[in-house]
Amino acid sequence: MSKIQAAITCVGGYVPEDKLTNFDLEKIVDTNDEWITSRTGIKERRILKGEGLGTSDMAVKAVQEILDKKGIDPMEIELLICATTTPDFTFPATANVITDKLGMKNAWGYDVSAACSGFIYALTTASQFIESGKHKKVIVVGGDKMSSILNFEDRATCIIFGDGCGAVLLEPTTDGLGIVDSILRSDGAGRAYLHQKAGGSVKPATVETVMAKEHFVYQEGQTVFKFAVTNMAQVAYDIMQRNGLTGDDVTWLVPHQANKRIIDATRERMGLPEEKVMINIQRYGNTTNGTLPLCLWEWETKLKKGDTIILAAFGGGFTWGATYLKWAYDCK
Ligand code: UT7
Repeated sequence: MSKIQAAITCVGGYVPEDKLTNFDLEKIVDTNDEWITSRTGIKERRILKGEGLGTSDMAVKAVQEILDKKGIDPMEIELLICATTTPDFTFPATANVITDKLGMKNAWGYDVSAACSGFIYALTTASQFIESGKHKKVIVVGGDKMSSILNFEDRATCIIFGDGCGAVLLEPTTDGLGIVDSILRSDGAGRAYLHQKAGGSVKPATVETVMAKEHFVYQEGQTVFKFAVTNMAQVAYDIMQRNGLTGDDVTWLVPHQANKRIIDATRERMGLPEEKVMINIQRYGNTTNGTLPLCLWEWETKLKKGDTIILAAFGGGFTWGATYLKWAYDCK
């Protein structure tokens, strides 16, 4: 019998309607469109507005799109893994909320916390359940409501992030397509440079932590940039080397959308021309766990069965990684 591999067989996505442009940000912090565009490539991002709405509300829309497109009953889904840094609650897991809202009564689920690499971590984890034969229908969600943890007085950080969510369906295949290989890395020493200071068990929420704005993203941008640029490019190069791929063999690079300059460095290290790279950072900014599935969502109709795709990410932790997959379907 041929080997079972996990293939993405459908993609869904959701971005909130409200846009926050660089010009809008000029009115909030001391910044300007020229600085943001030249340093990051971002022109605008989406913001989830509305009382009581969280990451699960975007995820529900992304997953519902998959169910509709595939004509799948929610009861058929066996497992849902949600990669997020902005869960609805500290507990229970956002995956529990999503499965409940969608009536997935037969599914179990849990969250994966790996910041901007979360989607790759979750995809790799999910693929094991398919490859082992344990499950046949698994959903992987990646998304964040970053606006819920942004300090709109910190111009170096608030300009980068946005809200959005994507999701993929994983199913078994034995025709050599699907997820082929992953390299996942982490280095907790990097936590000093990108984290949220309060709200965890080390520093629970108090009036003082709120007043000190410690419930927001803290980032030392230059340091994170240096690690990101080196490690994301290297891991993408390593997975090509390990699988005997050259730039000519790769159909698409799906890079984490944190900074256009990091994407360009990764592309150059892989020996790829610009037209092989999915980039939507100019419209969505950095949606953290959402960047990779949102790229797949927007490019789904262009993808062809057999396409060679490399996903690459770097984020808080530090965490980073790359996944090599063969696309499994032509979009109808
Ligand atoms: O996705 C998770 C991983 N995160 C990342 O990969 C992010 C990595 N880091 C970055 O993308 C970049 O470091 C940033 C975009 C965050 C910042 O860009 P930078 O080129 O590293 O700028 P910088 O922090 O070195 O700041 C350069 C100058 C400073 O002014 P002085 O000291 O040179 O006078 C900043 O105060 O730019 C200033 N600055 C700004 N000016 C206008 C910082 N933020 C802004 C701003 N508008 N929004």
